[in-house]
Parts: sequence; structure tokens; C-alpha cells
Amino acid sequence: MSEIKKIAVIAGDGIGPEVVAEAEKVLKRTEELFGYRFETEHALFGGVAIDEKGTPLPEETLEICKKSDAVLLGAVGGPKWDSNSADLRPETGLLGIRKALGLFSNLRPAVVFDCLKDASTLKPEVLEGTDLMVVRELTGGIYFGEKFRRDTEFGQEAVDTCAYNETEIERIVRQAFEIAQKRRKKLASVDKANVLESSRLWREVVIRIAPDYPDVELEHVLVDNCAMQLLRRPSSFDVIVTENMFGDILSDEAAMLTGSIGMLSSASMGEGSFGLYEPVHGSAPDIAGQNVANPIATILSLALMFRLTFGYADAADAIEAAVAEVLDAGHRTGDIAVDKSQAISTTAMGELIVAAIKK
Ligand code: NAI
Ligand code: MG
Repeated sequence: MSEIKKIAVIAGDGIGPEVVAEAEKVLKRTEELFGYRFETEHALFGGVAIDEKGTPLPEETLEICKKSDAVLLGAVGGPKWDSNSADLRPETGLLGIRKALGLFSNLRPAVVFDCLKDASTLKPEVLEGTDLMVVRELTGGIYFGEKFRRDTEFGQEAVDTCAYNETEIERIVRQAFEIAQKRRKKLASVDKANVLESSRLWREVVIRIAPDYPDVELEHVLVDNCAMQLLRRPSSFDVIVTENMFGDILSDEAAMLTGSIGMLSSASMGEGSFGLYEPVHGSAPDIAGQNVANPIATILSLALMFRLTFGYADAADAIEAAVAEVLDAGHRTGDIAVDKSQAISTTAMGELIVAAIKK
């Protein structure tokens, strides 16, 4: 019998509880099929926590997360809390939980499912086989550097600074190398080393630690070129690692290679194998409570947890294959359906995927 893994489950608001419930069915099925053992503990977070505990991130929720091996999060937020002050807004809890758990990277896979490749704005033959992951540094760079304004003879001047130290660069680049080792063993490090000093240090660090990962094929790509290559040859990328602002932009670009926001999974990681896994989408108040949301982003986030935190590649492969099989058979939720009248419900999609998981 395998060791028991602890998962904190945070459903959140809006469609969060609906999509998380389907991912939990998938979790249970993989437990039965593969013999892995999980213990889940539910915790309050976001708007629902504001209503019941008076804060978006209750101390006990943080405690539950800290004693877990991984966190599965739905989504938070909604119009009910939009006019609240900052400390009573669900989204404030999102920043708080990432900080409290020391999560310094954001991982966004972009996978083009064969049968959905017509849904993209790009040509199907360009997209064919695309399966990449953007690893974005999350706690440094220009978003967190010193910023100020000053008066000059040309009027006001605004300054943002981009600072990175070797420790910050090394920990995320090592993480990206390790992720590449669990995938197709290719890493593209993206910088602007022809112009920026912070990028020159970034590249020096990458070159220094690369010999520790001799099995990974490394390329350095300038960010402007990377933006082009993502549209020209997306399938040639495996893992892309980059600093905060470049990653913000490139991960959104990469997301648009695929179909709907209802398909996009993500992970936030810190030191070690701990991770917080969540769909990229929000709480979708416009469709909440209607059993129409696409649960695939959350189910794929669970697969990512199996792969990255637990190293259960067989279960992760099985879940991803089940999703592909159900899509190939033509089943669609409303967000990815061409003929909306044929769309199936959240629960129906979840149950089809559960039934398709094979050992
Ligand atoms: P959203 O992602 O919730 O929704 C955008 C659009 O995509 C909506 O039309 C929605 O119906 C659709 N959509 C989203 N997920 C879907 C799914 N699984 N299946 C089918 N359709 C889906 O973004 P929006 O509307 O900007 O924000 C709504 C609330 O969510 C806000 O309170 C926002 O602050 C919060 N939010 C929370 C996030 C999180 O918890 N990580 C991330 C983004 C937004
Ligand atoms: Mg963005």
C-alpha cells in the first residue's frame, strides 16, 4: 500500500464547488484503480469564508493547507463581495494564501487537444501536438521592484525597477529543469539578455546550473522572439521558464493557443513538492449554480498535482487520456460546444471522464 497523501480541498465560490466536486470524483476513481491513498480535508476560503468567518483566509484554512501535501482550489469571488473593502474581498485571500505558503512560481500548461484544434484562431496544422508549460517567476521582478514618481523638466517621470537576485533566479530555474525532466526534457529559458542587466544575470545563472541537468536540452530565447515562435512553432516547446512580467504575457499568449478558459489548469509551487493547483478561470458568477460549467480545467489541475507533487505519472497520464477520450467522442460542455443545444452538464462531463479512466 502506498503512503497516505493529504490534500486540502478548497471549493470557494460560484462554480468553484461544482467543478471541484467533479475533480473529487476523479480523485476517488484513481484511488480505486491505482491503489494510491488520499486523505482530503475541506477548508473555507474566499467569499464563503467572509460570510462564515469574517475573513477571506481564516487561520484554520491556512493550517489545513500547511499540514497537507497539496491544495486543490476551485475559484473565489463574486458580485456579492465586490463592493467590500480590500481586506474583506475574496481575491485578497488569493494573494495572501500564495504568500503564506511561499509559492514563488506559477505553472501554466497549454495543451491543444486534437479534436479541439479547430476551435483556435490558429491553423490546426500549426497547433498539432502542442503540449507546453510556462513556468513563471511570481514574487520578484518589476512588479515588486521599487517604484516612484519625480518631477523633471519634462514633467512628471514614473520609475519602475526590475530587480532579481541569484537566489530567486536559481530556485525557479532549478524547478523548471526538474519539471522538464518529468516531461519531454526540453527547456527554453526566456530573457532579454541583449538589453537588460537582470536578464544577463538570469542567463548567467541558467548557464551555471545547466550542467546539473545533462539530460535536459536547453535553449536561450529572447522574449520578443519567443512571442513569435509561440505562434509559429508552438509544438516545438516543452517547458518555458521566465521572469514575472515576461511570464505574465507569454502565459496568456500560450493560453490562447488552446480552446476555452474552461480547459486551462495551473499550479503554484514553492520549495519542494508542495503545490497549489487550480483552474485558471474564476468563479464565473454568470453560470454558477446551473450545472453547466466545464470541470476539465479543475480535473486537469488534479492530474498536474499527481504528476508534480506526488510523482504519480501513471495516474496523471490516465486522467489526461480519459479527458482526451471523452472529447474525442464528441462530448462538450457549453463553453466548447459548437452546437450549444448538444452541450452536456458539469456532472455529466465529470462522470464520463471518471468512467473513461483506465489503468
Ligand atoms: P471568470 O473566469 O470567472 O469568467 C469569465 C468567463 O468565462 C465567464 O463568461 C464565465 O462564464 C466563463 N467561464 C469561466 N470558467 C468557466 C468554466 N469552467 N466553464 C465554462 N465557462 C467558464 O472571470 P471573471 O468573470 O472576470 O471573474 C468572475 C469572478 O471570479 C470575479 O469575482 C473575479 O475576481 C474572480 N476570479 C477569481 C479567480 C480565482 O479564484 N483564481 C481568477 C479570476 C477571477
Ligand atoms: Mg495576465
